[in-house]
Amino acid sequence: MSVRGALDPLASRGGSPVRESFLPLAVPSIGEREKQLVLETLDSGWITTGPKTHELGARIASLTGARHGVAVNSATAALHLGLVALGVRPGDEIVTSTYTFAACVNVMEHLGARPVLVDVEPDTLCMDPARLEASITPRTRAVMPVDYGGHPCDLDAIAAIGSRHGLPIVEDAAHALGARWKGHPVGSFSTVTAFSFYATKNLTTGEGGAAVTDDGELAERISLLSLHGMNRDAWKRYTDTGSWYYEITAPGFKYNLSDVLAAIGLGQLERFEEMQRRRAEHAARYQALLEDVPEVRRPRTRADALHAWHLYPIALELERLTCDRARFIQELRAENIGSSVHFIPIHLHPHFRATLPYREGDFPVAEDAYRRAVSLPLFPGMSPRDVEDVCAAVRKVAGHYRR
Ligand SMILES: Cc1ncc(COP(=O)(O)O)c(C=O)c1O
Repeated sequence: MSVRGALDPLASRGGSPVRESFLPLAVPSIGEREKQLVLETLDSGWITTGPKTHELGARIASLTGARHGVAVNSATAALHLGLVALGVRPGDEIVTSTYTFAACVNVMEHLGARPVLVDVEPDTLCMDPARLEASITPRTRAVMPVDYGGHPCDLDAIAAIGSRHGLPIVEDAAHALGARWKGHPVGSFSTVTAFSFYATKNLTTGEGGAAVTDDGELAERISLLSLHGMNRDAWKRYTDTGSWYYEITAPGFKYNLSDVLAAIGLGQLERFEEMQRRRAEHAARYQALLEDVPEVRRPRTRADALHAWHLYPIALELERLTCDRARFIQELRAENIGSSVHFIPIHLHPHFRATLPYREGDFPVAEDAYRRAVSLPLFPGMSPRDVEDVCAAVRKVAGHYRR
């Protein structure tokens, strides 16, 4: 274990940084196979939604234990389409946790639905099932749990609450491709599960996402709504009008993925297990190297969970430090270590403060987590030495600000 740097002056005060080059929070891992598949697609004569996009959707479904998968251009689109396909209407209430990205609540707002926020569990920062159940009213129409950082929610408990109250679950698994809960893949629990293929995610297409479901009709509706509501099979019923004919059967969206991007995803899938293994190795190294840093609380994984390790989020023991989280991040930056914060709770953003009936203090677990949160770099292409550098910087900064 590295002990280097603990007594050296901070880089922000003229000392040498822990490393010479900047280590970002996340760097996509793009291999030769992705490049080859993209070039093949570009040469194929078909570069928008087509066979590669359909194959990616089907492969994501089989990886996640679902019957059907539709690849789209973001997880936000998948969440939005899931809600639309389920018939969410203005005035409907949808329960989600406040410790999430704005996408969850924005898509509800686009539908005129009312976001109902609940607090999270202190160990996983995922939706607290007891608080979910307590927040259900006759107007509740759906539940949107968020698998924070790649740790699955208590998915069978949430599914059981959904069945008890007749509520569909639209799970935000943007972080959780490859995660498992009680041995079953994330994607096999909820009515609809949304994954993100954004640039920093565990599998990327640059921008992209997918919705998976066991319900064939729902999958068909999501697919149809992802491209203008255009029924592309309509021509089969009107053979005299030829293959140019289509019908608009619903006011759809322009949420389709291009085959060029889907090709990146298909290449990534071939390496997905290996990339996940590397993330898990880096996370294990972090856990070991930070064990004896009392200013840092490490993320916990429940016994029932296989973590996807999208993020490696630590919590600062602020009571042991003379600096706040913002200063800690600034010092890491000066040491050439990138980091970030996941998340600013929804109810603390100006827009949602103005539009939702919540105030600071309403969600103590999420607010406390937010004050302490620092996500450290985690991506497959890191080296063990990179992880050691991050830990050396954390140790150095914590040492300087120790109370
Ligand atoms: C929890 C969560 N949900 C949804 C999204 C949206 O994903 P996308 O950028 O693919 O729309 C993100 C993006 O980072 C996220 O962190």
